[in-house]
Amino acid sequence: MFDRHRRQLMDRMGDAVAVFFAAPEQIRNNDVHFPYRQASDFFFLTGFEEPEVVLVLAPRREPGDQVVLFLRASDPDREVWDGRRVGVDGAPAALGVDKAFDIDTLDEHLSDYLVGTRTLYFALGDCAEDDARVLPALRRARRARRDGRETPCTLIDPAEVLHDLRLRKHEEGLVAMRRAAELTGIGHRRAMAITRPGVHEYVLQAAMEYEWAVRGARRNAYPSIVGSGPNACVLHYRDNDRRIESGDLVLVDAGCEFSYHASDVTRTWPASGRFSPAQRSIYEAVLAAQKAAIAHCRPGNTFDSVHAVAVDVLTRHMVDLGLLEGPAEDRVLDEGYKRYYMHRTGHWLGMDVHDVGRYHQAGSSRPLEPGMALTVEPGIYIAPDDERAPEALRGIGVRIEDDVLITAGEPDVLTSAIPKEVDEIEALVGSARLDV
Ligand code: GLY
Ligand code: MN
Ligand code: MN
Repeated sequence: MFDRHRRQLMDRMGDAVAVFFAAPEQIRNNDVHFPYRQASDFFFLTGFEEPEVVLVLAPRREPGDQVVLFLRASDPDREVWDGRRVGVDGAPAALGVDKAFDIDTLDEHLSDYLVGTRTLYFALGDCAEDDARVLPALRRARRARRDGRETPCTLIDPAEVLHDLRLRKHEEGLVAMRRAAELTGIGHRRAMAITRPGVHEYVLQAAMEYEWAVRGARRNAYPSIVGSGPNACVLHYRDNDRRIESGDLVLVDAGCEFSYHASDVTRTWPASGRFSPAQRSIYEAVLAAQKAAIAHCRPGNTFDSVHAVAVDVLTRHMVDLGLLEGPAEDRVLDEGYKRYYMHRTGHWLGMDVHDVGRYHQAGSSRPLEPGMALTVEPGIYIAPDDERAPEALRGIGVRIEDDVLITAGEPDVLTSAIPKEVDEIEALVGSARLDV
């Protein structure tokens, strides 16, 4: 699969050379690092999880010298502490590359690979340390001009090609995304089941993340949001430390990563197991908008039009609920709805939760195509101190988010098994005990 990804990229590169760096390690404090995760682009092209690695793709060179990896040499003393390394000798067989060199020789060799081509694919500006390795190599390579040889005079951001490849999912990626969605669902259902007044938000977080971790999803796709009561109105709430009170809504936005693919799901439920009439009215408005927007996720419709459908339904409900003055079309036009719906309806989803890929083409919103995946996540958030809102609605925050794959026909909702109908949710919330 990684070989296929490299080939797809190289086929589009012509006689250019591409250079990719592994994600840097990040120090947390002293000699302790943050958990390492490979950069998605680098993993897409190599499947390799070690840090301090550079991949060079040079399709115009001789066979056997086109896919080249610079990586850490074996070091038995270090490996006692940090675990096994693939090493230079092991890399061609383990990773399917043509050639491997010690990363310590990068400065010596990289400039050679930059000679003989006019175009370099490199993400200049993404990481100053990577720039500081590539730019001197480029300068050295230019000396070869004196001998009449080509050197890069055009720099292209690899995102232009690579991110378009990542945007259209293939079978292996979809298998991982479906598994991530399934495990995320098990976690969300567990969080619903153990919810009751008096439990802290972090208990729901821990119980949910446990469910996917023990099934092999070793990381979250992003930090979990567990917001109860007024915290449901904080879009990127992450403290997760409030005691849940009866009468609260609980908004959980959380998803696991499985095999380098993300899931991103939001559900909102009542702490006590029953929506109040006010909560239910907001919930049903968001659910109606979400269903309409999902139904719109079909080839040919644009990414922006999915948002427009959600905005349209939400705004009509906001007028009916007394949150906005009508007519609804005017509140869409003057963006009055943004008082209660201030974010977009979705984003691409894939190896990264906010995945790569352009949203516009030639200045227009991009039409959806089979194989693309996106989230659909409308919400309504009414600040507790919003004196313009009807009193009964203040402090209510609701978001409902699913992961949707575009197909040739009906949208394929990867997260459809996670309850979102009012009666399903009310039946599940509080149905299990977790003693802490
Ligand atoms: N969890 C972040 C988002 O929904 O976009
Ligand atoms: Mn989310
Ligand atoms: Mn999202």
